[in-house]
Amino acid sequence: MSGPSTYVPKSALGRWFESRLPIGGLIHSSFVVYPTPKNLNYFWAFGGILSLMLVAQIITGVVLAMHYTPEATMAFSSVENIMRNVNYGWLLRYLHANGASMFFFAVYVHIFRGMFYGSYKAPREVLWILGVIIFLLMMATAFMGYVLPWGQMSFWGATVITNLFSALPGIGEPIVTWLWGGYSVDNPTLNRFFALHYLLPFMIVGVVILHVWALHVTGQNNPAGVEVKSVERDTVPFTPYATIKDAFAMVVFLILYSWFVFYVPNYLGDADNYIVANPLVTPAHIVPEWYFLPFYAILRSIPSKLGGVIAMFGSIAILAFLPWLDTSKIRSGRFRPLFQIFFFGFVIAAMGLGYLGSKPPEGAYVIAGRLLSVYYFAYFLVILPLLGLFETPRTLPATIADDVLAKGGSAILAGAAQAPSTKG
Ligand code: HEM
Repeated sequence: MSGPSTYVPKSALGRWFESRLPIGGLIHSSFVVYPTPKNLNYFWAFGGILSLMLVAQIITGVVLAMHYTPEATMAFSSVENIMRNVNYGWLLRYLHANGASMFFFAVYVHIFRGMFYGSYKAPREVLWILGVIIFLLMMATAFMGYVLPWGQMSFWGATVITNLFSALPGIGEPIVTWLWGGYSVDNPTLNRFFALHYLLPFMIVGVVILHVWALHVTGQNNPAGVEVKSVERDTVPFTPYATIKDAFAMVVFLILYSWFVFYVPNYLGDADNYIVANPLVTPAHIVPEWYFLPFYAILRSIPSKLGGVIAMFGSIAILAFLPWLDTSKIRSGRFRPLFQIFFFGFVIAAMGLGYLGSKPPEGAYVIAGRLLSVYYFAYFLVILPLLGLFETPRTLPATIADDVLAKGGSAILAGAAQAPSTKG
């Protein structure tokens, strides 16, 4: 059934090409016969959804760039021109802007999935760290992309965030001047952000290729967190099983994406960004896009600027150390009762920080932000290291096939096709 590739192209031309560049065999072994754990749930569809979104962002972005002008006096009006005069320009722009939100939504589900099922644990540490690098590149890309329409929030968001580097003692100010290409956010800043916003997605593609390569070396984790013991009993071939399931999940995801694009295209945006950038007028509240809000809240919950900057970058960097901070021998959160409580606490803390990031930094919001930031870091630095030492896990299924059977799957589903089915 599934196993290593035995791919031989049908046509003579195909065989000629394959013996010179075996790309067909690579695709066949990675996406056709590739053994996929048979107990995967829909959370495992998000890697495919992310790949789709990456391609969608690149295609819409390249076409937008054909009509956009990266120059401070023209950027804003070139975007308005795209919206009003370019054929389907409004669609391209709404797809790209809402696509960024959908991309982040999918990546957060993907990351939380990995955190719950322990997908970062050995032997998948490198796969996980490559994911963290992708996440950083995505954040840099989105941040610079948001500056391009050159609205008020573009300008002031860029000013606030680049200014953070000035907190570094001694070297801070020169670094900020170097980043700006001058003494304030201005045309040189816009130009370089455009160049980098075009470049970084292709770097993301490169790291995604490494990410998927690493995945195919270790094989996928699964909801039970036990490794594949028998390819025959525990896995099914990627095609058609995972291909169809992923395709279905993509369609559902695209419906949600379309709903934003066609019904509420500006819901996730900020009205201030429809006002052209003005260095002399500061908006009342400078708020980043929703997907940055938890980190923004962490930044603002530390009273010192340098401390806030360290905490904010630290809150992302700490993800890379997760494989070593979690001391539990059990991979999947399904079998860790105490972990489940703290994990859901973490999800709520992250969402709470997101909410607080959108509020002005005053009064009870600040106190709540501090408490949730403490929980955020304690989860990684205290709870996970200790939990692995004290927690009594539930009994694991011996194999993936047993896990399917325990959930009421028939013997045939579990791969024991020869045995008579228990369900008739
Ligand atoms: C552009 C962004 C990304 C793309 C296109 C992508 C793609 C994929 C794909 C196709 C898979 C296999 C299918 C699946 O398990 O969902 C996967 C698995 C995985 N990804 Fe990503 N990924 C991205 C970002 C990330 C990030 C940011 C992280 C973590 C910080 C991450 C961590 C993982 C892990 C640990 C797995 C293995 C999951 C398992 O087998 O249980 N990925 N990724």
